[in-house]
Amino acid sequence: MDSILVTGNGPLNGQIPIAGAKNACLTLMPATLLSDEPLTLTNAPRLSDIKTMTLLLQSLGAEVSSLQDGQVLAMSSHDLTSHTADYDIVRKMRASNLVLGPMLARLGQAVVSLPGGCAIGARPMDLHIEALEALGAEIELRDGYLHAKAPGGLKGAVHEMRFASVGATENIVMAATLAKGTTVLKNAAREPEIVDLVECLRKMGAQIAGEGTSTIEIQGVDRLHGATHQVVTDRIELGTYMLAPAICGGEVELLGGRLDLVGAFVEKLDAAAIDVTETDKGLKVKRRNGRVSAVDVTTEPFPGFPTDLQAQMMALLCTAEGTSVLEEKIFENRFMHAPELTRMGAQIDVHGGTATVTGVERLKGAPVMATDLRASVSLILAGLAAEGETVVSRVYHLDRGYEQVVRKFEGVGAKIERIKE
Ligand code: EPZ
Repeated sequence: MDSILVTGNGPLNGQIPIAGAKNACLTLMPATLLSDEPLTLTNAPRLSDIKTMTLLLQSLGAEVSSLQDGQVLAMSSHDLTSHTADYDIVRKMRASNLVLGPMLARLGQAVVSLPGGCAIGARPMDLHIEALEALGAEIELRDGYLHAKAPGGLKGAVHEMRFASVGATENIVMAATLAKGTTVLKNAAREPEIVDLVECLRKMGAQIAGEGTSTIEIQGVDRLHGATHQVVTDRIELGTYMLAPAICGGEVELLGGRLDLVGAFVEKLDAAAIDVTETDKGLKVKRRNGRVSAVDVTTEPFPGFPTDLQAQMMALLCTAEGTSVLEEKIFENRFMHAPELTRMGAQIDVHGGTATVTGVERLKGAPVMATDLRASVSLILAGLAAEGETVVSRVYHLDRGYEQVVRKFEGVGAKIERIKE
């Protein structure tokens, strides 16, 4: 398993290009199942999760061609040959469950393995099941698989979700595009990736309104046609790299960065004495003065502070002046980066979903282990600012969500290399 060697090397300066959003692409790709005409995605990120979704769609009989060094995905689901998403793929990537809604809508049946838990939590699918059953699906759990069918097709319905689940919202919106009648989804998730999905579905002929709000209305149509769609900028990659100059000093411009994608995050950076300015190419970030200030953070569904930036923010706050309290309200076990940061000299006290971080002058490099995607990049950020060398092991987690991470950090002056093992 590869590792990454980072050596604290002072302020970072320059530009970092931001890629298309992993979590938008992972819901846009299954949308191809809704139509027998080609769907092409541009600005796709080059990530292992995208390769996993490609394999899953191909296992269902879809054609997926990766063009222009992976930035274009040309897909066609004209001849689907299976409606089963196997455990060996789904267990590697929970987002595989996003084929459930489209397959039910297009084929009237689907067999999808339950993803099983992952490092950050149990990650059940009850909200997906309840919502699809509201559309008339019959779903049974057998041998670890969800066996779903809608023999007479799905029917529009009014359904309020108990929690604004991102994935459940995506599954329902995709399924409802081909249901008979109108669906009103209440307490829908508002993430930008859902807005991006709806914009793509609309290009395919779907009748949808309300994306980005808590109530989304979908008027079912008989069929959807092909389209070409550009994947929205990755707000989590953006936020991650915005923290590089914040934690190291210097000034970095994030190419393609958009303020509307990171509103709550930028508010917290401002409170921590980090300046973010819009440029004609994206967002420029630098510290306001010598040291970062402590801030309290609570993760919430969009437009609140994103849980996917919590680990990275914790790395910043480890060297802030004062004490910060971070509350993780979305996942039940998303502080696994804390003990690793403590190995670098951080002072972090974790009780349940609350982590109290008392800032120290400087972290010290140490061997640490990546436990999940966002924790892995949090450790790299800490290593960039630490004194001496940090070796982050198990970086296969990193490859799931950050393309060319070594090159991007090197591009702004970081001392970082990948050690093949
Ligand atoms: C999406 O996961 C993202 N993944 C996650 O990003 C992100 O952390 C999460 O949304 C929250 O923003 C993709 O988009 C591929 P949820 P998802 O359904 O859809 C519970 C990353 O790092 N829940 O909004 O799975 C669940 O256990 C990944 O890129 C149920 O209880 O998130 C969790 O505690 C990590 N029952 C909470 O809701 C359900 O049926 C949020 O889950 C579904 C979810």
